Amino acid sequence: MSVTKGVILVGGPSKGTRMRPLTLDCPKPLLPIAGKAMVWHPLAALAQVPGLTEVLLVGFYEDSVMAPFVREAQREFPNIKISYLPEYRSLGTAGGLYHFRDSILRAPVPQHIFICNIDIATSFPFAELLEVHNKHRGVGTIMGVPVKKEVATRYGSIVHDPETAQVLHYVEKPQGWISNTANGGVYLFDKALFDEIKDAMDEKTARAAEDPLVVLDENLQLEQDVIERLAAAKKLYVYESKDFWRQIKTAASAVTANSLYLQRFEKTHPDLLTKGPNITAPVYVHPTATIDPSAKVGPNVAIGPHVFLGEGARVVNAIILDNSTIDKHAVVVNAIVGSNSTLGQWARVDGEPEPETEVKGKISVSVLASDVQVLPETHVRSCIVLPNKSLSKNAANQVLL
Ligand code: GTP
Repeated sequence: MSVTKGVILVGGPSKGTRMRPLTLDCPKPLLPIAGKAMVWHPLAALAQVPGLTEVLLVGFYEDSVMAPFVREAQREFPNIKISYLPEYRSLGTAGGLYHFRDSILRAPVPQHIFICNIDIATSFPFAELLEVHNKHRGVGTIMGVPVKKEVATRYGSIVHDPETAQVLHYVEKPQGWISNTANGGVYLFDKALFDEIKDAMDEKTARAAEDPLVVLDENLQLEQDVIERLAAAKKLYVYESKDFWRQIKTAASAVTANSLYLQRFEKTHPDLLTKGPNITAPVYVHPTATIDPSAKVGPNVAIGPHVFLGEGARVVNAIILDNSTIDKHAVVVNAIVGSNSTLGQWARVDGEPEPETEVKGKISVSVLASDVQVLPETHVRSCIVLPNKSLSKNAANQVLL
């Protein structure tokens, strides 16, 4: 069996700004979705791939930010080697890969490398990608996902031959519509990818020599600088996924991703889900959380460490982060409650489910940052609440600073 490795592009502190206020005190890759850090989901899927020896997380967070997760993950997945490679600054989605090429290609030398973005919720169909990849002689296979025509230009657009799966044309966020198949942010490449990145880097160097506006640095984008070239050279193929796929860019999309991953756990990790007379599946409850037997929880709820849910409390379609208290008869629907926050008795924090296409200026899901107090009987609807706020008045459709 050929050696395979995985790379997860975890980004860095200047990324994930649309996840604020959640990312103010928790880096995006470590935000709990369905009770597990966002980065855990691709990692757990990679750990299942036969012949996969190693997963490298590449990003521009400080080493110390990712180290505790890497240590814990290494204990959970002892069959693979897990490491974090910190870029000295943001090098782009291909610059980091190139900077760390020696580490990625170190023995056992991989024949194939899976690469995936952190900010997506999907089933990570690596086995299917490999099957398609083994049928052609391209350098890479990209996971394509169907998107609606109205939003297609927000993604990388793939035009391909439906017979051969060969990618004929790729444009990152095109000006006008060209295809309903979007780049799903999951790839499989042969190790020849690094020759292609080198060519792209050389081309950039040549451009910089001629054009003073091109900055000569190590920054390179996988999508624009490498994939567009591979498509033009007919060296790229597509695997069209029919499974669930969503981007996790905003706090509201974290609630959608939470539901999708919890539903997936019913098949893949039923042991992680909690059952009970007042629980409507799927629900994840951390073992250290305390839930009053009369509280009603679910569906699509993840409850973090040391959370307390009082008598008659109700939680639906929500993420409750660590150390929070939902007091007697308080209600949380379509919302995220940040760490160390409290809802007093009969308080209510709710919102609308995330719409399929975001409406600018309209808040759907309610998000409480950390250390927020919602006083008894207060109703907060479709609001974003910044840390350390104490709310005693009802509020709707506002950002509360
Ligand atoms: P936006 O819609 O503008 O957010 O763009 P996008 O969806 O194309 O996402 P983007 O290119 O910013 O990020 C794609 C993936 O690459 C995400 O998982 C990011 O965390 C990751 N990423 C982005 N920039 C870098 C970088 O400089 N280094 C590393 N290692 N990862 C990065």
